[in-house]
Amino acid sequence: MKALVCNQYGPPENLVVNDIPSPTPSVGDVIIDVIGAAVNFPDLLVIENKYQIQPPLPFSPGSEVVGIISAIAEGVEHLKVGDRVIGLCLTGGFREQISISALACIKIPDDISFRNAATLGLAYGTTIYALKDRANIQPQDTLLVTGASGGVGLAAVQIGKAMGATVIAAASSNEKLNICKQHGATHLLKYAKQLDDKESQRNFSKQIKSFGTGGVDVVYDPLGGNYAEPAIRTMNWNGRYLVVGFATGQIPSIPMNLPLLKGCSLSGVFWGEFVKRHPELNQANFEYLFELIRNKALTPHIASVYPLEQTPQALYQLQSRTSSGKILIAVDSNRI
Ligand SMILES: NC(=O)c1ccc[n+]([C@@H]2O[C@H](COP(=O)([O-])OP(=O)(O)OC[C@H]3O[C@@H](n4cnc5c(N)ncnc54)[C@H](OP(=O)(O)O)[C@@H]3O)[C@@H](O)[C@H]2O)c1
Repeated sequence: MKALVCNQYGPPENLVVNDIPSPTPSVGDVIIDVIGAAVNFPDLLVIENKYQIQPPLPFSPGSEVVGIISAIAEGVEHLKVGDRVIGLCLTGGFREQISISALACIKIPDDISFRNAATLGLAYGTTIYALKDRANIQPQDTLLVTGASGGVGLAAVQIGKAMGATVIAAASSNEKLNICKQHGATHLLKYAKQLDDKESQRNFSKQIKSFGTGGVDVVYDPLGGNYAEPAIRTMNWNGRYLVVGFATGQIPSIPMNLPLLKGCSLSGVFWGEFVKRHPELNQANFEYLFELIRNKALTPHIASVYPLEQTPQALYQLQSRTSSGKILIAVDSNRI
């Protein structure tokens, strides 16, 4: 079978498509014939050996797939051959077949397309967990999303809006902000692409105050870096700051008197660990996401679809900050 292979850590252009043996399932596993996969920021970290969990070389990157189960091993009760599933795998997704634990699969309802389901895993799974389970977001809340047109960011704009919150989207260009507006943002905040721009940092809080929302109740932050502190300074009493990621590459240091004075909490979001500890709650979250798609309260935004051979270009598009929403890999291009 064809697989994208990382033989040495480094940039996307080091990755090659090779023929490798098909997998055989271990106890509790299923084989998925992969139809499509989504590209995610952690894929870039894994191939560059910068992620917290590291597979041994050589390996295939790709942290989530959609496809059809073609074989099941002993010990699998709730899935059968022919089921359409999302597979959450961390690595190994950019290939024609994958063997993963049945517990890491979510059944796709018949009325949800592979294309929509392919966008959901990391971005929407993380975001529903963050907004619902970590922040307990309420319809009267104002939600600030940084990096708002990215994969998890746009998911937060859409889910926040669907849950009734007023959404402030913050991103680095008018084009990206327009996409956020189309997906439910009420207020738009442009920041400098150079995130160490001092003037832009000062303007960040000023712009939020100018929206007249009276501050922010929930911050959803996949960026880290220099806008974290100005964001906290705009928070209301009982606010919840969601630490989602560090796409800027910088982990911010926050003066600890700020949460005290603001009466707000800092809440970590580690979705992969949540899925391991509470698969049944994650399953319920996906039922909710499927329902949002069904009711047209949520339409995933797909920036581009690349064939498997062009996965390095897809990863490069993500790395160069030129995409919005999700980028997909069509492993079986007739079915996605
Ligand atoms: N906590 C969890 O469980 C979890 C789960 C999934 C992902 N994450 C994390 O969330 C973050 C975003 O992931 P994603 O898949 O949404 O990525 P993405 O689609 O690439 O979006 C990231 C956004 O960050 C902004 N950005 C600012 N500086 C950047 C830089 N130096 N390089 C790239 N982007 C930069 C870009 O928007 P602007 O140009 O508008 O600034 C971009 O749209 C990552 O750190 C990822 O590891 C965490």
